[in-house]
Amino acid sequence: GITRHYDFNVQMANVTRLCGTKSIVTVNGQFPGPELIAREGDRVHVRVTNHVPHNMSIHWHGIRQLRTGWADGPAYITQCPIQTGHTYVYSFTVTAQRGTLWWHAHISWFRSTVYGAIVILPKLGVPYPFPAPHQEVPVLFGEWWAADTEKIMSQALKVGGAPNISDAYTINGLPGPLYKCSAQDTFKLKVAPGKTYLLRLINAALNDELFFSVANHTLTVVEVDAVYVKPFTVKTLVISPGQTTNVLLTAKPVYPNANFYMSAAPYSVIRPGTYDNTTVAGILEYHKPGPPSTSSFDKGLPLYKPVLPFFNDTKFVTKFTTKLLSLATPEYPAAVPQSVDRRFFFTIGLGTLPCPKNMTCQGPNGTQFAAAVNNVSLVLPSTALLQSHFTGLSKGVFLSNFPAMPTTPFNYTGTPPNNTNVATGTRVLALPYNTSVELVMQDTSVLGIESHPLHLHGYNFFVVGQGFGNYDPTNDPAKFNLVDPVERNTVGVPAGGWVAIRFLADNPGVWFMHCHLEVHTTWGLRMAWLVQDGSKANEKLLPPPPDMPKC
Ligand code: C2O
Repeated sequence: GITRHYDFNVQMANVTRLCGTKSIVTVNGQFPGPELIAREGDRVHVRVTNHVPHNMSIHWHGIRQLRTGWADGPAYITQCPIQTGHTYVYSFTVTAQRGTLWWHAHISWFRSTVYGAIVILPKLGVPYPFPAPHQEVPVLFGEWWAADTEKIMSQALKVGGAPNISDAYTINGLPGPLYKCSAQDTFKLKVAPGKTYLLRLINAALNDELFFSVANHTLTVVEVDAVYVKPFTVKTLVISPGQTTNVLLTAKPVYPNANFYMSAAPYSVIRPGTYDNTTVAGILEYHKPGPPSTSSFDKGLPLYKPVLPFFNDTKFVTKFTTKLLSLATPEYPAAVPQSVDRRFFFTIGLGTLPCPKNMTCQGPNGTQFAAAVNNVSLVLPSTALLQSHFTGLSKGVFLSNFPAMPTTPFNYTGTPPNNTNVATGTRVLALPYNTSVELVMQDTSVLGIESHPLHLHGYNFFVVGQGFGNYDPTNDPAKFNLVDPVERNTVGVPAGGWVAIRFLADNPGVWFMHCHLEVHTTWGLRMAWLVQDGSKANEKLLPPPPDMPKC
């Protein structure tokens, strides 16, 4: 591979959406930010300079970072943030991955505007395992907030209440024609009859899982989270915050004399009735036959809209996610751990903390909303976990006693809820190098029903099973798929259900795992694994780069 150099200048820029202009944090003044392209095997150097009056940190979501945890990015987990006026070079190698990933700010809620696509091409001369597309198009879903998202975050923290809903969903930063003042801010994909397009879908929204559909067209799913899957065709797909999905879209063979909406709308079971089902729309428009015309979008043509599932259609979501399977071919094997060294069971859910003095809290009985893994709500330290681990100065920073099981197991589907107590702490779960891990994550669904997209840094994992109700350790494992389960970095823990994953802990370092709904991360639905070094030289975490930011 070669080395690719990027300059990311984090700077303020004025952006106008929905008739309002706002100064937002951007990379190089672009919103969404620049696309990062590399081939499998390449080295990547991104020189990030912080020109804004906030601490900053960038995460390369889904990049494995083998032995290079220093470049992973989550603030206070693997690094101290980059302070105003400072520069840090993120340096990593793209190993055995191909497809779409993305990068985003990993401090506070700055990822609301600081995000962009990562495109990983196969090695030179290696074809895709599907017909070569005519064109490849990144499609990033986001949210637009008229208010300052940092204020919304502190409101979520201080008041402990649910945050406001964003003012618009966006495609490539554009809210589209269904919102006020947005007709000119519409993403348009121009296609030629009969040609096939690879859409690189990225859900960069802060707090919502999304349905996506293109009217009168089908989508063939070929890859998720930079791993190829067995292709299958759908009208509508589901994508959670953090996830990426590559789909092939073939344009109709003859000019259709029509335009088509591509729409995304939230899948959410907590706020019924607050959404229009086709809120963000882009337009799929066809090249007119004959000489190229100057005006591309013919307003006179009929416009078709897709029908999206109802906002709480959990059955649809389950049907979609169970279709996802690894290719599992000799070229692209699925290295599912067949035996397990350690089994873990995590409860994933919301809970409450006593309301701090001088505050009015909006949780049940005046408590403060919190979220936790095994009833532990992770408190970020004031230094970085990876640094204190590496230097051996972990005393007073973190404890290595994160519980392998919930402290009080209970009936997760029962009422009344009795597992909402949360304790705060900075505790990690330590694993020897190369431990084969099986982890069952059980949604406790005790405070409202909703699913949680859990993201693990530094690894891909295999989704070997999922189900509803209480996980049954006696009978459910017999149904696990250990042959061709989907391999990914972010998985939805279903509302009122569980998901089982397996991974081999072959990447030493400290690795964040958290719900990718930003409000839940803020409330503490986050934990960290500490994977120890192996004994061989090539099984150890590399030393930190000299320009590592200081706290
Ligand atoms: Cu995409 Cu820890 O994040």
